[in-house]
Amino acid sequence: MLHIAKNLVQLKSTLRSTHSIVFAPDLLAIENNTLASILNGVPALIVTTKSVNSLYGSKLRRYLAARTPTLDYRIFVLSCEESSKTIDNVLAICEQAAMFNLKRRSRIVAMGGGVCTDLCGFAAAIYCRGVSHIKIPTTLLGIVDAGIGIKNGVNVGSNKNKLGTFYPPEYSILDPSFINTLDNRQIRCGMAESIKIALVSDRELFEIIENDGVELINSRFVDPWASAEAVVRQSAIRMLEQLNKNLHEVNDYARAVDLGHTFSPYLESISQYTLPHGEAVAIDMGISVLIGRSLGLLREDTAGRILSLIRNLGLPLYYSAMDPVELWRSLDLIRAHRDGRLNLVVPTDIGTYAFVDDLSSIGLNGLMALVVELREQNGEFDRHRAMVP
Ligand SMILES: NC(=O)c1ccc[n+]([C@@H]2O[C@H](COP(=O)([O-])OP(=O)(O)OC[C@H]3O[C@@H](n4cnc5c(N)ncnc54)[C@H](O)[C@@H]3O)[C@@H](O)[C@H]2O)c1
Ligand SMILES: [Zn+2]
Repeated sequence: MLHIAKNLVQLKSTLRSTHSIVFAPDLLAIENNTLASILNGVPALIVTTKSVNSLYGSKLRRYLAARTPTLDYRIFVLSCEESSKTIDNVLAICEQAAMFNLKRRSRIVAMGGGVCTDLCGFAAAIYCRGVSHIKIPTTLLGIVDAGIGIKNGVNVGSNKNKLGTFYPPEYSILDPSFINTLDNRQIRCGMAESIKIALVSDRELFEIIENDGVELINSRFVDPWASAEAVVRQSAIRMLEQLNKNLHEVNDYARAVDLGHTFSPYLESISQYTLPHGEAVAIDMGISVLIGRSLGLLREDTAGRILSLIRNLGLPLYYSAMDPVELWRSLDLIRAHRDGRLNLVVPTDIGTYAFVDDLSSIGLNGLMALVVELREQNGEFDRHRAMVP
C-alpha cells in the first residue's frame, strides 16, 4: 500500500507465505508419492551431508530415477558438522546453484540435520534474492525443531547463529525412518527438545515419552511405532503452535520454546561446542526446574518427576566444567539478547510454564546450591545411562 503525504511517501507491504509440513514415513520408498508430487518437475539443487549421502544417497537417486525421471536436479554433498555452519558454505551452495544454472523458480532442497537445513535456508534466502526451499530433516532434532522453523543461521567465529535470516521453507517433509541410522546420543538430544515442548504445552506427549521414551531410543524410533509417530507429530505440531504466536519474533522476546535455552548457550560455549546442544538443553531444563521449585512455582514431586525423565532417557543434569559464578554472569548476555528481560521459562506443571525475570530471591548462593543438587542427582546418571546404550 502506498501512502503519499507532503514530505513523506510510505510503502507498506506484507509478504504472504505458506509453509506446509508434511508427515511422510518411508519417504524414499519407491511407492511413496510424497516427494515426487512435491518436487513436481521443478528444477532442484539437492544438498545433503556426507553421512546422509552414504546412508541414503543411492536410495534417493533410485527414487528420483523411478519416480521423477525427467526432473532436472543436481545433488551437492557437503560436510555438515557444527564447524561447517559458515557463511563460506552458504556461498558454496550458492555457487553450486549458479553452476547448475538454477533460476528463480527453482528450489534448493536440504536433506540432512539442522546444520544442513540452516545452511540451505540461508542460501535459498539470498540466491537470486530468494528461491524456494524444502527441508527434509534427517535427525530427530531436525524433525522436531530445526527443520520446521523459518529461521536459519551460520556461526561467526564462536558466535553461534550470528548471521541468518527468517525465511520460510515451502515444505518441511518429516520422516521418522531417518532416525533409524542416528546414534543413540543424537536421538537422546532430539528427545531433549521433545521433552522441552511437552513440558510447556503437552502433558500427553510428556507421558508418552515417560512410558515409551527408553524403548523408542533403544529401537531407534521403530517400537512402539504408534508412540514414535506420536512423538514426532505432537512435538512438531506443538512447536509450530508456539512459533506461530510470534513467527518473526517481532512482538517480544518471551518464548515458551526457550525453556532449556537460557543457560545452555553458556554450557555449549564453555565446552567449545563439544557438549551437544540437546545435552546442554537437558541440563538447562534441570536448572530451570529447580529454580521453579525454589520459587514455589513447581511442586516438589513434579520437579522430581521431570528430573527422573531426563535422567532415565540417558540425558545429563550436570556438566563438570560448569561454574555457577559464570553461569550466573552468563544471564547478562541473555538479558541483552532478550531486550533487557531474562524471560527464563520455568515449568509450573507438566504442560504449563511461567516466565521468570527476577532471580534475586535465589541469588548466586541459591544457584550454587541448585547446581550441587543437580550434581548429586547426576551421580546416578551413569547407572541410568548404562540402561540406554
Ligand atoms: N534453524 C532453527 O530453527 C534451528 C533450531 C534448532 C537447531 N538448529 C541448528 O541445528 C544444528 C544441530 O542440528 P542436528 O542436531 O540435526 O545435527 P547436525 O546437523 O549437526 O548433524 C549431525 C551429524 O549427523 C549426521 N546425520 C544427519 N542425519 C543423519 C541420519 N539420519 N543418520 C546418520 N547420520 C545423520 C550429519 O551428517 C552430521 O554429521 C545446530 O547448528 C543448531 O544451531 C537450528
Ligand atoms: Zn534447541
